Amino acid sequence: VKISFVGGTGPAGTGLAERFAKAGHTVILGSRTLDRAEAARDTVMSAVPGADAHAAENATAVAQGDVVFLTVPFDAQRSTVESLAQDLAGKIVVSIANPIRVQDRRAIVVPQKAGSLAEEVMEIVPTARVIGALHEIRVSRFADLLREIRSDTVVCGDDADAKRIVMELLAQIPGLRPLDGGPLDNSRYVEGFVAVLITMNFTYRAGTSFRITGIKEPNGD
Ligand SMILES: NC(=O)c1ccc[n+]([C@@H]2O[C@H](COP(=O)([O-])OP(=O)(O)OC[C@H]3O[C@@H](n4cnc5c(N)ncnc54)[C@H](OP(=O)(O)O)[C@@H]3O)[C@@H](O)[C@H]2O)c1
Repeated sequence: VKISFVGGTGPAGTGLAERFAKAGHTVILGSRTLDRAEAARDTVMSAVPGADAHAAENATAVAQGDVVFLTVPFDAQRSTVESLAQDLAGKIVVSIANPIRVQDRRAIVVPQKAGSLAEEVMEIVPTARVIGALHEIRVSRFADLLREIRSDTVVCGDDADAKRIVMELLAQIPGLRPLDGGPLDNSRYVEGFVAVLITMNFTYRAGTSFRITGIKEPNGD
């Protein structure tokens, strides 16, 4: 699968690209400027020798990908999606951002008119096959290839095929278990709940992740 990252030059995009490259996929690091994309590609190639990694400006990266991850800061996602709306039409688009500001050790949810950042993508590009995922995973975890992620992630979306494709991809990241969280409008609860996880990180001086129990594993657990 060809996987693109819009704003793939930050720790989220580059770290995820490394993990997918390790799983044998083609990755395309996107940026607003080609030279930054090339630097991110070089980072991926040195972390994962033999990686099939490429660099492109965001619009080209989107055009080349079968699945597009949005990995820009949450407050830049709207303008980024608006500027790439034509390119994103019809694509599988994964929104991972959370509308949360951290101030004085407090996590504050920034209310979204669309309900969630994932739903906002769908509002701007109605033909996009939008999936919300990876909200619960701290960006620093993506970047540290030596540590297993060890978390579930709730995956929401209205397009069943797109959701299956994204869940199959995420399941290839060691330690990560994607779970079907239902329709895209459930994303608002997942995005908002991350404020609770961040609060717990402060309270317990921890790096929390997220597990749902009670779902049977194929091994009977
Ligand atoms: N708990 C968490 O920490 C957590 C968990 C899950 C998801 N996330 C989400 O992951 C996303 C990415 O995180 P990150 O730390 O990798 O982000 P980042 O490093 O701050 O930004 C990633 C890239 O986005 C591009 N960008 C920055 N400002 C932009 C703007 N105004 N317009 C367009 N592009 C812009 C830049 O790329 P170029 O300059 O190269 O274009 C930048 O390198 C965030 O939305 C975050 O909410 C966070």
